[in-house]
Amino acid sequence: LLWTPSPTNGLELNYCRNPDGDRIGPWCYTTDPERRYESCNIPQCKDEVCITCNGEDYRGQVDHTESGKECQRWDQQFPHQHIYQPEKYPDKSLDDNYCRNPDASPVPWCYTTDTETERESCDISKCTSVEMNPFTTNCFRGRGEDYRGKVNETASGIPCQRWDVQVPHRHPFIPNIYECK
Ligand SMILES: *[C@@H]1O[C@H](CO)[C@@H](O)[C@H](O)[C@H]1NC(C)=O
Repeated sequence: LLWTPSPTNGLELNYCRNPDGDRIGPWCYTTDPERRYESCNIPQCKDEVCITCNGEDYRGQVDHTESGKECQRWDQQFPHQHIYQPEKYPDKSLDDNYCRNPDASPVPWCYTTDTETERESCDISKCTSVEMNPFTTNCFRGRGEDYRGKVNETASGIPCQRWDVQVPHRHPFIPNIYECK
């Protein structure tokens, strides 16, 4: 099950959100009984700017190490065998060959495509305080769990169903069970 409850998933009104870390980015249940849910037409943010703390929530697209080595894809076991298979750690967003920090290391890292170097840290700048707000409104980062904009229709133009109602589609993402919305 990909869905992990979070206190900050922002299920307001009928805005497109991604409470379950779905690969399609922000989505919503639609008001069309025939279409249960659909992704929304929200652009991805161009760059992941920076990391906070040790970058466990980094979802950007840096794909090389601090010494310039190309990262190995997380879904491959070559040249280095490893335990961080994406399907075993669905909440870690082990996408493509991007630097990630699934094991609470000091900074994001990756396995490298260099047979001599198993893994290496990535050089991703730390956020200054003005950049600390993790939420985005005009685009989404990573899979869009932190998107908090006001798009309320799907990519094909169907209005979204409100998160706090269960028609036309019944669903588990009930806003009231979360502390912050
Ligand atoms: C979508 O949101 C806008 C405000 O952002 C609102 O005016 C409009 O009524 C909403 N549409 C639907 C179908 O909820």
